Amino acid sequence: MSRRIKNTKLRKHIEKKREYFQIYQKGNIHLDLFAIYGNKNPVIMEIGIGRGEFLAGQSLLHWQNNYLGLEINKARIDYALRQLDTKRHQNVRIIDLFADENLIELIKSNTIRKIYILHPDPWPKRRHQQRRIINHKFIDVLYQLLDDKGVIEIQTDHQEYAEWILQHFSEREDFIPVNGGITDIPRQGHLVTYFEEKKMREGNNPLYITYKKKLVKDTREK
Ligand SMILES: C[S@@+](CC[C@H](N)C(=O)[O-])C[C@H]1O[C@@H](n2cnc3c(N)ncnc32)[C@H](O)[C@@H]1O
Repeated sequence: MSRRIKNTKLRKHIEKKREYFQIYQKGNIHLDLFAIYGNKNPVIMEIGIGRGEFLAGQSLLHWQNNYLGLEINKARIDYALRQLDTKRHQNVRIIDLFADENLIELIKSNTIRKIYILHPDPWPKRRHQQRRIINHKFIDVLYQLLDDKGVIEIQTDHQEYAEWILQHFSEREDFIPVNGGITDIPRQGHLVTYFEEKKMREGNNPLYITYKKKLVKDTREK
């Protein structure tokens, strides 16, 4: 729990939500998604949920999917928990985690239908670019996590990072661009988050990047 919350009533309210929505990594054991959600519905993952508006809204719109939100900032997790309701958001879980290549130790391969990465930190300075979440090793992991219908949806307000992302995907043969790969037209059911609105007010409109997993044909003789 973030130490910043001094209001006891609010703190208790968040702790109650945490009991329901937050899940924890137990050693190097894969999450049992069926046990967590109690069904086999498609699992949609969002990396870096921020204040959680997208997760909270999408999970209501698509109640037939399960949602798994990953976030490293504890204060933001608390903020996101406040937006979730134990009756209406039964298909949502959050995990306090820094997503990197180790994700494959936590989540079984071929189990995620869609991965959203919305406004990932752009690390604009050249010397910081190696911190960008989009890199080939991480895309390798995303490929493994996605199921056969798997899709990656990325959104960025940073033109140069958008070009970096496209460059990475264009260098690969395991993903196919959807609708040309990039557009400035918001996706159906698009939800504007606090962060996105802030960026738009500063004059930086989002770009939407979509790639789907390409299935490698099994060429072995049957
Ligand atoms: C710029 S904010 C965008 C938040 C939200 N996606 C939105 O569009 O409003 C990026 C968020 O990703 C989180 N984050 C950055 N790297 C992460 C990582 N590797 N794993 C999990 N969360 C991460 C940050 O803590 C922050 O909350």
